[in-house]
Amino acid sequence: MKYLKFKDGSKMPVIGLGTWKSSPGKVKDALQNAIQFGYRHIDCAAVYQNEKEVGEGIKAGLASAGIPREELWVTSKLWNNAHKKEDVLPALKKSLADLQLNYLDLYLIHWPVVFKSNIEGFPKNEEDFLALDEVPIIETWNAMIEAKNQGLIKNIGVSNFSIKKLEDLIDQTEDFPTVNQVELHPYLHQDELLQFCQSHKIHLTAYSPLGSGDRTPQMKADDEPSLLENEIVLKIANKHKCSPAQVLLKWSVERGTSVIPKSTNAQRIKENLKSIDVNLTGEDMNELKTLDKHYRYVNGKFFETTSKYHNIYDD
Ligand code: A2P
Repeated sequence: MKYLKFKDGSKMPVIGLGTWKSSPGKVKDALQNAIQFGYRHIDCAAVYQNEKEVGEGIKAGLASAGIPREELWVTSKLWNNAHKKEDVLPALKKSLADLQLNYLDLYLIHWPVVFKSNIEGFPKNEEDFLALDEVPIIETWNAMIEAKNQGLIKNIGVSNFSIKKLEDLIDQTEDFPTVNQVELHPYLHQDELLQFCQSHKIHLTAYSPLGSGDRTPQMKADDEPSLLENEIVLKIANKHKCSPAQVLLKWSVERGTSVIPKSTNAQRIKENLKSIDVNLTGEDMNELKTLDKHYRYVNGKFFETTSKYHNIYDD
């Protein structure tokens, strides 16, 4: 396995198991299988509403693989209803309790969006939001630093942050985010963001690397392009005698990011980890470069409000 290295000496395995959309009934077995197959990186979030079962799976997986918790990298994310400084620690402690852990390797601000503290899950109308100047990101960030100083988190970072939002944040702190987790795949290269992050030693993690085909119908556009059925992806997979998913995952690794494919299927969990062994050539990468069409499967614009100014991608 390859790793991304962090300032504090910790190392994140570049392929992790995603748990968004993994149903509580399946995710425990998925985790146990994944850890047994060799996964050492798990990506979670409070809003996925399955951290209790993920915790059971982690416990079972560590026991069956016979490894200590320290060998596993676990990420979780602060939901949008807990950005106020007094809400950060309780939200973190809830994730830790559900995951049955006493520290996280990485904790991320999930979105640069704020909901009122009493909103569970998703808002119903504009009144459920707060503006970013009512609860600035730096307030949330300083509470994350405090949790790190208490030993509850090893690294802190963000998710779904544009270059502008990263710049705003790093202008106000000496403790830079270590990771920005964003959507990345051959239809959405985000080269400028990648270069900006690399120049500031911020690692990128690629979510929805396979196109997240299991999103609910409400989250899908009618004319969505398929990554797994793309002709160039299929051609490269054929050439290397591997699966299209493995091409997509190794593409992320070749670009220097980590990647968190979600699966609850034992065969596909194994297959995704093995993508590390696919040898994509420079020519393959060049062909995949031609696929960029700035396409987002997970378009955070559904969080945008005009009255409470949230411009997710600053475009
Ligand atoms: P399943 O959980 O049944 O394996 P993403 O990581 O982009 O969110 O994509 C997740 C979707 O991709 C899920 O529907 C998942 O289904 C499917 N998936 C995961 N791994 C593979 C694979 N190796 N080949 C095809 N589909 C996959």
